[in-house]
Amino acid sequence: MTFEIAPQKLIYGGDALGYRDGRAVFVPRVLPRERVEAEVVRVAKGIVHARPLRILEPSPDRIEPPCPYFGHCGGCHYQHFGPQRQAEVKQEILRETLRRTGKINWEKSIVLHTAQPQNYRNQAQFKVGRTPEGLLEIGFFEAYSHRVFPVESCLLLSDKLNQVLREFRRERWASLLEGCTEIELFADQCDDHTAVILRGMLTKGESVANEILSSIPGVASVAVEAGSGLQVVGEPHLTYSVGEFGYRVRPGSFFQVSRFLLPKLVDAVIGPVHGESALDLFAGVGLFTLPMARSFGTVIGVEASRSAAADLAANAKAHAFTNVRTVEAGAQDFLRRFAQVGVDLVVLDPPRAGVGASVLKLLVGVQPKRIHYVSCSPPTLARDLGFLVAHGYEPESVEMFDFFPHTYHLEALVRLVRRAV
Ligand SMILES: C[S@@+](CC[C@H](N)C(=O)[O-])C[C@H]1O[C@@H](n2cnc3c(N)ncnc32)[C@H](O)[C@@H]1O
Repeated sequence: MTFEIAPQKLIYGGDALGYRDGRAVFVPRVLPRERVEAEVVRVAKGIVHARPLRILEPSPDRIEPPCPYFGHCGGCHYQHFGPQRQAEVKQEILRETLRRTGKINWEKSIVLHTAQPQNYRNQAQFKVGRTPEGLLEIGFFEAYSHRVFPVESCLLLSDKLNQVLREFRRERWASLLEGCTEIELFADQCDDHTAVILRGMLTKGESVANEILSSIPGVASVAVEAGSGLQVVGEPHLTYSVGEFGYRVRPGSFFQVSRFLLPKLVDAVIGPVHGESALDLFAGVGLFTLPMARSFGTVIGVEASRSAAADLAANAKAHAFTNVRTVEAGAQDFLRRFAQVGVDLVVLDPPRAGVGASVLKLLVGVQPKRIHYVSCSPPTLARDLGFLVAHGYEPESVEMFDFFPHTYHLEALVRLVRRAV
C-alpha cells in the first residue's frame, strides 16, 4: 500500500519519523519536511515501517549519495545529506535522547568533533556468501536482511582495507575460502599493516592462513576462528599508535574502529584532570588507561575479556608504567571487592548495552569524585546518566564525536562531577 508522508525529524536508528492516521511511521533515507511517496513494509509494535518510493518534494539538504550502493547495502543510513548536517542532526538526537530517556535537560552546547567523513574505518567485517555458481560474494548485509550485498570497495574504509578487499575478490580465493562466512580486517594507524580474522567452518584453515600471509601485501597476521579459540599465523598482534602510546592489539581484543578522532577522544576523556587514584572500568587494551597513568598515582584497568586484559597488562609493561594494575574481571565482580572510597576519576566506556543499574549501584558506593562516561549508544547512556544524576552526579560537559559519518552511529562523552553533600 502506498501513501504520502512528510516526515518531521530524524530519529536514532537512521529513519525519519512521521505520522499517518495518528500512527508513527518510520521511513529510511528521507529528510524532515520532504514530501515522500512511501509503501508499508511491515507494522511492528504499533509502528509502521515504510520504504520510500519517490521524493515528491526534496529537502534543500538533500544531495546525491556519494556511494552507488546506498539504499541497497545495509552499512550506511545517511548519504542523502551532507556530513556537516549529519553531525548536527546527531547532536540534536543525542540531546533529545538525554532528555526523553534520562530526564536530563542539557541546555548548554554539545561540543562537536568532526573529521574527514570518508576512509575513516580501520576495521571491517565483510560477510562472505556464494553465488549459485559457487563464486565468492564479499560485502555487507543488505539492509534488514542477512543476504550478502557484494561490494567492490567502500568509501568508509581506509585505503588499505579496500586494497585487501580487492585482493580477496580474486577468483583464486573462491575454493580456498570454502566454509568461510566472515572476514574481519583491522589496519594499524599508518594504514600499512593488517590483521585478518577468518570465521566460519573453514576446511583448509591453517593452509589458507599461510597463503593469505604470503600473497596479500601488508597482511601481518591471519587468525582462524576455531570453536571459541583463535589459531593465529604470523604476528601474534598488531601495534596501533594513538598519540605517544603504541598499543598491542591481539586478534579478538577490542579496539576503536574509527581512526581520525581517536587522539581527540583520548585527550577529552582525560583532559587536565589528575589525582591519586583512578579506575578505567571497561579498559580494553588500555586506550585510556595508559594516558591516565601519567596523571594519577595509581590506575586500575578492569577488563572482562582475557585477550584484551592480557594486552592491557603487556601495554602497561611495555611503557614501563609501574602504577597500572590490570584486573581481568567483569566490572561488577571487581566493584564488589573494591573497598576504596573517593577515587578521583572513573572512566566508563561500556559496550552498547551500557553499564546498567547493578554496576552503577556499586559504583556510586565508591563515591568517585568524577565519572567520565564514553558511550556509543545514546539510549543506554541516557538511562545510565539518569541513574547517576539521581545518585549525586551532575553533568559538567557533553561532547559528540562523529566517529561514524554516513551512519546514524555516534560516540558521546559526558563528564560528570559528584555534587557536594
Ligand atoms: C567499548 S569497549 C572500550 C574499550 C576501551 N576503553 C577502548 O576505548 O579501547 C568495551 C570494553 O569493555 C569490555 N567489557 C565488556 N563487558 C565488560 C564488563 N562487564 N566488565 C568489564 N569489561 C567489560 C569489552 O571486552 C571491551 O574491551
